[in-house]
Amino acid sequence: MNIGIIIYSQTGNTKSVAVRLKEKLEAKGHNTTIEQITISGSTPAQPGKFELIDVPTPDNYEAVILGAPVQAFSLNPVMKAYLEKLPPLKERQAACFVTKQLPLLWTGGTGAVAKMKQECESRGAKVVGTEIVVWSKSKREQSVKKCVDNFSALF
Ligand SMILES: Cc1cc2nc3c(=O)[nH]c(=O)nc-3n(C[C@H](O)[C@H](O)[C@H](O)COP(=O)(O)O)c2cc1C
Repeated sequence: MNIGIIIYSQTGNTKSVAVRLKEKLEAKGHNTTIEQITISGSTPAQPGKFELIDVPTPDNYEAVILGAPVQAFSLNPVMKAYLEKLPPLKERQAACFVTKQLPLLWTGGTGAVAKMKQECESRGAKVVGTEIVVWSKSKREQSVKKCVDNFSALF
């Protein structure tokens, strides 16, 4: 299967999960590409204070995985802006993940991943999985592994 992993990563955490996912999906025989959303303007991006530069299209892929950080208890504004521009997904399979620092519930992960799922479904995608990756040191490896294992089992 031709799978696109489309991410925004400000400091590299989300990207490192994408790289692990790519390795695992390719080991299963999938053709997997990571594409990064990029912006102009200073970081961390603030709503209305950046422009999207690279806006990867999902059209080249049979399935898409979207990934982004949580920022200020919400989905990162760059991924929000990207989702606003997302074209119809036409029943493609999709999966969404976020990375976040805080290990506690109600610190932005659930709402952020729900927003990604809802935007994908509103464009016709079948969202087959969501994951919240917690970056605090004690949970990180276990959390990344869970995301990579669960997502690679979906495709
Ligand atoms: C400005 C800013 C706000 C953040 N807000 C939150 C937050 O509300 N909840 C949380 O768990 N982590 C928060 N984080 C931590 C990031 O979500 C976390 O480090 C993430 O893995 C970064 O991903 P990246 O390296 O791909 O950019 C915040 C980080 C920054 C820089």
